[in-house]
Amino acid sequence: MRIVIANDHGAVALKNEIVAGLKARGHEVVNLGVDDETSVDYPDQAAAAAAEYRKGGYDFGIVCCGSGVGISIAANKQKGIRCAQVFDLYTAEMCKRHNNANFISFGGRIAYSVPVLDMIDAYMRAEFEGGRHARRVQKLDDMC
Ligand code: RB5
Repeated sequence: MRIVIANDHGAVALKNEIVAGLKARGHEVVNLGVDDETSVDYPDQAAAAAAEYRKGGYDFGIVCCGSGVGISIAANKQKGIRCAQVFDLYTAEMCKRHNNANFISFGGRIAYSVPVLDMIDAYMRAEFEGGRHARRVQKLDDMC
């Protein structure tokens, strides 16, 4: 798969872990995030990732900040982006099956009970179910 990723200063180590893990699994990752801990504003990284995704050719995007919250909110304000903040294997799977999330977010300062790469694997394995969920996702997309 081809994946765009972006992060702020609160998630540099997590971003590096994700990029290394995805590349080791044979995926292509385009990194638009920051690579040091100089303070930046996460809406800028979310906007950059969304703009890159909208160019086409990407399967999905990953955005990371300290909590995963701010950059998720910012991503969801970008046209065409449905970003899910993933916490566990259930949310990782269901955000694809029911919401057709095209972005997922994580927090670099969160102590997850499941490895983030396992959650990303669960998201990547899942498939959108369509049907009644397609109607609901269309309503989401019509909102902005
Ligand atoms: C930056 O200190 C922090 O606020 C940001 O990474 C994120 O957690 C915001 O939601």
